[in-house]
Amino acid sequence: MQGRLNIVPFVSVDNMMKLVLAIGIERFLTGLAAAIEEDFRRWELFDKTPRIASHSAEGVIELMPTSDGTTYGFKYVNGHPRNTRQGRQTVTAFGVLADVGNGYPMLLTEMTILTALRTAATSALAAKYLAPKDARVMAVIGNGAQAEFQAMAFRTMLGIDRLRLHDIDRAATEKCIRNLAGLGFDITACGSAAEAVQGAQIVTTVTADKQNATILTDNLVGRGIHINGVGGDCPGKTELHPDILLRSDIFVEYSPQTRIEGEIQQLAPDHPVTELWRVIAGHAEGRRGADQITLFDSVGFAIEDFSALRYVRERIAGTGFFEELDLLADPDEPRDLFGMLLRAQG
Ligand SMILES: NC(=O)c1ccc[n+]([C@@H]2O[C@H](COP(=O)([O-])OP(=O)(O)OC[C@H]3O[C@@H](n4cnc5c(N)ncnc54)[C@H](O)[C@@H]3O)[C@@H](O)[C@H]2O)c1
Repeated sequence: MQGRLNIVPFVSVDNMMKLVLAIGIERFLTGLAAAIEEDFRRWELFDKTPRIASHSAEGVIELMPTSDGTTYGFKYVNGHPRNTRQGRQTVTAFGVLADVGNGYPMLLTEMTILTALRTAATSALAAKYLAPKDARVMAVIGNGAQAEFQAMAFRTMLGIDRLRLHDIDRAATEKCIRNLAGLGFDITACGSAAEAVQGAQIVTTVTADKQNATILTDNLVGRGIHINGVGGDCPGKTELHPDILLRSDIFVEYSPQTRIEGEIQQLAPDHPVTELWRVIAGHAEGRRGADQITLFDSVGFAIEDFSALRYVRERIAGTGFFEELDLLADPDEPRDLFGMLLRAQG
């Protein structure tokens, strides 16, 4: 075997958890948000395409590729809202980073935990530009796998320290309260979405349901709030009543993908929206005033995963938080692939 060209670093779920905890959840989220912000500033460099989705009655499987010309990344991710009933996650993911120059993968990693972190980091990054400056109180509707990550990112990056939680399943809210105890939040469990939004300057909707749901109706949305809409991310899977959208200034990741998958699938295809990267790069305004309703219509875009992959690759260097995976065939003579197979007979 020549050199170690067969080896690709692999980050398992176990090692991802060790890495995140060694760095610290808050520092990890901040570092991830900084990597995403940096890549959003160089948005125009990237290959961009709406993700490739394979829909079924139960859910969706998606591939999310992008490249900055030097490095290529993709994520495999599913979304199956009924999975939790069989003990499975709604969302699982893994991803690859590769060298554009030779096409060789440079990293293979779990991305279920990493997706929750990058989604939360992206939401908080958007809110940094869009939410009211003095925001302290956030409603979180949908208290499943993503919820605590969202809370942590908003506390770390925006100083949110009061949470109003609601889920149709009380057990999910109780799980959140248990997990977030001692992490610096004042938490109120709410019996309805209407109760949860009372006094909240930021409303995060992060439910899972494969339908056009109405988690928020128009009358619940007062002036001046920021909505972080995370759970509506597939055709026919939305969370907000369309009247809310008509009163909001809407910010999206990559508009061709969001028009297919986001809340704005409910609007005319030419309804004005602003891509978040333009706000971050200083080409467009974020929040303009105290009365404005801002909506981050989040669906999750490939560049965020690219940023997360490169952040993890940088952070595992010099640590033991990865394994060496024998992933790539590497015969001594590159064209003698068949000979290598024969020689393996011993
Ligand atoms: N935008 C993104 O980048 C992104 C990334 C990851 C996940 N998501 C989406 O976020 C959503 C949540 O993901 P998850 O992993 O936390 O799922 P999950 O299944 O673990 O949790 C979803 C929670 O929503 C609750 N819920 C469902 N309908 C509700 C309703 N009408 N009112 C209140 N609560 C309700 C469920 O009881 C459950 O506790 C999913 O729809 C997923 O596809 C989006």
